[in-house]
Amino acid sequence: MIKLIAGNWKMFKGPTDTLAFFDSFEAPDGVDVVLCPPFVSLEAAVGEEWPIYAQNVHWSDEGAFTGEVSARMLVELGVQGTLVGHSERRLYFGETDDTVRLRAEAALAAGLGVIACVGETEAERETGETEAVLRRQVEVLPHNDSLVIAYEPVWAIGTGKTATPAMAEDAHAFIKSLHATRVLYGGSVKPENAAELLSQPSIDGALVGGASLDAASFSSLCQIAASLS
Ligand code: PGA
Repeated sequence: MIKLIAGNWKMFKGPTDTLAFFDSFEAPDGVDVVLCPPFVSLEAAVGEEWPIYAQNVHWSDEGAFTGEVSARMLVELGVQGTLVGHSERRLYFGETDDTVRLRAEAALAAGLGVIACVGETEAERETGETEAVLRRQVEVLPHNDSLVIAYEPVWAIGTGKTATPAMAEDAHAFIKSLHATRVLYGGSVKPENAAELLSQPSIDGALVGGASLDAASFSSLCQIAASLS
């Protein structure tokens, strides 16, 4: 199956840096590529040849929700999908399983693809709660062909710590037993560790933060994924 490599730029790259990235980014055939720039850079990015996803979406079509953006607005811009439930949203912006579900449902209803993020914290893993947390986060997600799950152990995001391929494989197999969809791995994925992670049978791709900001390293991640598809 073709692997999916999604780049989550978080709060990096305005429109100028976005266009500069696309000047040097290349990906071979045999890999699905998605990029998730910040809201202000979506318009610049949708002119390029890759599917562009937002990093978040509100569940209403419009309304008095300062600072939010609706699925309909994203569709109007030519955006093809959105992340929901990233752990940074859950940690810093009060995102709950319920709001993640609402955002995912609204995005899918508007015809957007969804990458829904789940994952346990270090404390939850240490107290043996990983499966209970994943079950709680995954069970609220709608079943829909346009929804992909990203397993991102919170302790591995931006820390340089990666789950071992065996740990990631176990979590992915568990998620797939609850929800039959593609499951991406996220958390310090880079060209040096990608092949080992992506060759696990239940790892269908990667959601990449830091290593997606540099066109050369994101290109090489896409090449590695294509060679394994
Ligand atoms: P990282 O981020 O690759 O920088 O760890 C992954 C993510 O947060 O999606």
